[in-house]
Amino acid sequence: MTSGGDAPGMNAAIRAVVRTGLYHGLEVYGIMRGYQGLIDDDIYKMESKSVANIIQRGGTILKTARCMEFMQPAGRKKAYDNLKKRGINGLVIIGGDGSFQGGRKFHEEFDIPSVGIPGTIDRDIVGTDFTIGFDTAVNTAVEAIDKIRDTMDAHDRMFIIEVMGRDAGFIALHSGIATGAEHIMIPERKTDIMEIVRSLQEKGKRKKMVNLIIVAEGDEEFGGAVGVHKIIKEHVPEMDTRICVLGHIQRGGSPTCLDRVIASRMGYHAVECLISGRYNLMIGIKENRINYTPFDKAAKMKTRVNDEWIKIVKILAS
Ligand code: ADP
Ligand code: F6P
Repeated sequence: MTSGGDAPGMNAAIRAVVRTGLYHGLEVYGIMRGYQGLIDDDIYKMESKSVANIIQRGGTILKTARCMEFMQPAGRKKAYDNLKKRGINGLVIIGGDGSFQGGRKFHEEFDIPSVGIPGTIDRDIVGTDFTIGFDTAVNTAVEAIDKIRDTMDAHDRMFIIEVMGRDAGFIALHSGIATGAEHIMIPERKTDIMEIVRSLQEKGKRKKMVNLIIVAEGDEEFGGAVGVHKIIKEHVPEMDTRICVLGHIQRGGSPTCLDRVIASRMGYHAVECLISGRYNLMIGIKENRINYTPFDKAAKMKTRVNDEWIKIVKILAS
């Protein structure tokens, strides 16, 4: 199943799980819409051809959902009854930390082993250097920002661009560095907005009018891109500024090579794990090795962003 927010590369992971399972002589089933499909018994048998021609496609052929019913014991009991009825005795959950908490809870109550594969564009999960979808999302953001730069430069304008990432600033940090942003605002760090204002006033004097600020959606200190724009307009009214919120474009599209490769590796190892009796854990990749994180530790990553990153942004954009 795929659960929570979709991410490009989930299809590549589904393909890997199905084909590895079939290789081992297992029967493999696809569950539609995450835990909702488990409760509604929206489950179908998958063959090798069910996953043909999907490795290059964004989204997820199994669809996904956020399912409130599964948070309740009665919902989980319905899900269990459906699995038992069909003789399904192992789950591969492709999703974020919320989905893994669902898997952990399910195993606490019933005898269904689960293995998780991290699929989220936010890259906010401990125990892995990569999550499926981040690389594609950040490349999509970079491509879009490059296009904005062209028109921004032609008009000597300033742009404030808001990117996704939920509570995490990784998409902002990576896309901002890759596009030469002057300022990057992320929830992991407090921003001195007056310092930004002063630098813009200073640049105004130097006639350097091309300015790019990337704001992570989770950095709500000033009200996202709209709030930052308001403050800058108040203090530097002469600056011609525009806002762009990139939004869900970042979650779609054909997965990059990296996302396809990590999804394939993780999908393969998820099935190997279930077969060898290891479960209740998330598969990750750390330092190019497969890494296993128990579900109860596969929580949201709260990282401190190293000061050096911010220093690099400042020096390179000066
Ligand atoms: P993600 O997996 O991307 O973090 P969510 O946090 O929305 O996304 O979780 C996906 C789904 O996992 C939820 O809609 C719910 O069905 C299930 N889930 C999340 N947390 C729990 C929990 N503590 N107990 C049971 N199910 C949960
Ligand atoms: O978790 C992936 C993500 O795209 C976040 O970056 C964003 O905050 C959220 O999902 C948006 O969720 P929805 O599509 O439900 O609005």
